[in-house]
Formats: sequence, structure tokens, C-alpha cells
Amino acid sequence: MKPYVLLNSAMTVDGKIATRDSSMKISGSADLVRVHRLRKQYDGIMVGINTVVIDNPKLTVHKIDACKEDNPVRIVVDSNARTPLDSLVLNGDARTVVVVSSGASEDAVGKLREKCEVLVCGENHVNLKEALSKLYDMGIKSILLEGGSTLNFSMFKEQLIDEVSICIGSKILGGTKSKTFVDGKGFSINECVKLELKKIEKIDENDVVLTYTTSY
Ligand SMILES: NC(=O)c1ccc[n+]([C@@H]2O[C@H](COP(=O)([O-])OP(=O)(O)OC[C@H]3O[C@@H](n4cnc5c(N)ncnc54)[C@H](OP(=O)(O)O)[C@@H]3O)[C@@H](O)[C@H]2O)c1
Repeated sequence: MKPYVLLNSAMTVDGKIATRDSSMKISGSADLVRVHRLRKQYDGIMVGINTVVIDNPKLTVHKIDACKEDNPVRIVVDSNARTPLDSLVLNGDARTVVVVSSGASEDAVGKLREKCEVLVCGENHVNLKEALSKLYDMGIKSILLEGGSTLNFSMFKEQLIDEVSICIGSKILGGTKSKTFVDGKGFSINECVKLELKKIEKIDENDVVLTYTTSY
């Protein structure tokens, strides 16, 4: 069994989810409130290690009225246990699980274990199917996936994403080095993930949220 997974992201009209150095302010304040309402409804919130290193997000519910118990479990996918020990996901405001591979150094894993839970899945790279199955067994029945684009691709490739919700912020960023919604190796047209449009919402003057279900 695996948790239900909603991939939520904010992207510009030209498909970028970040500038070369950060993903801040792609969408407006109405979207931030929407995302924090979503966080409150999910058991877990998952990101890739690069997002932790680059954005240093708290991954808690703090833009709406909430208490500590409303925070989902923060899950970081980090094969080599390189989550910085001073990162905000390890600040104690919520339970945190770092998913590493068995190839991660014992020393790095030991230091992480002093600050959070560590789950070992996969040999040199995190095995996402195994990770989701173990997280389900730990009581995490729903996950809000919040990027970045490399993890998004792998999660689609493993057919683990059930629903997609994307806020299109009224901006153009451009830049061949700026991350898009889904990067990785990419799919051929025959392999591509097909989406069914469920909802279109205009959440403020210029931002639109599109919601889709996936089929594989
Ligand atoms: N606008 C938005 O909504 C939004 C949201 C989140 C992030 N972002 C932006 O996205 C950018 C980061 O994205 P990113 O693509 O560089 O990195 P990412 O997806 O955050 O993290 C990718 C890393 O996760 C680790 N990983 C472990 N197992 C994996 C697996 N099975 N599949 C995929 N990854 C696995 C890999 O590092 P190891 O091999 O070391 O484990 C991989 O390089 C940042 O610029 C951030 O600002 C934007």
C-alpha cells in the first residue's frame, strides 16, 4: 500500500518553478494560504534534498491559524544524508523523516539520527516505491509532494503521483538553467503521464490553480 500523493507546485507562465537560485515568490499570497491549508490536510509533506539545500523551507503550517499538531510529517528524500544539520526542517517544529540510501555514510546518518528519524530505502539512490510503502506503514496515508523538479520526475516515473495541483503565477522567468515543473530525463510521447483536468480556479487577480488527476 502507498500513501495518496498530491503534487503541488507554483510555476511561472513559462513553466519555471525557480530562478537560478530560489523558488520564492513565484505565486502570490492567496496561493501561499491555499498551500498552507493543503499542508494542514495531509499526513506528510515531501521534498527532494536540493530543495532543502537551496530554499531551506520550514515545511510547516504557519501562514494560517494552526497549532503544532497540524504540521504534517516533513519527509526529505536524501540518498547521501547531506541534509544540513542546521536546516529549518530539523528545527523541531514538526516530526521529520529523512529518507536515505544504504550507501549514505554511517557518520552522516548517525548525526541525522540525533535530530530526526531516518529511513533507509534503496542501495545508492532512494527507492521511492519502498519509501512510500514504509511511510504508509508508519501511518502516513497521504503526502503533499512539494518538488523540486528532479523528485517530481522520479515520482511520476514510478507512477506514485495521484493528483496534480499547480498554481500558475503571472510571471515569465526564462533561463535555460532555471528549473521547470518536471525535469529529470523526461518521457517519450508514448511514456508521458496523461492528466485529466478536474478544476480551474482563479485565486486572485492574476494567479490560476489547475487541478488534475493522473493516469498511467
Ligand atoms: N516553485 C515551487 O513550487 C518549488 C517547489 C520546490 C522546489 N522548487 C525549486 O526546485 C529546485 C530544486 O529542484 P531540484 O530538481 O534541483 O531538486 P529536488 O527535486 O529538490 O531534489 C533532487 C534530489 O533528491 C535526491 N533524490 C534521492 N532519491 C531520489 C530519487 N529516487 N529521485 C529523484 N531524486 C532523488 C537526489 O539527490 P541525492 O542523489 O543526493 O539523493 C536528487 O538530486 C530549487 O531551485 C527550488 O527552489 C520550487
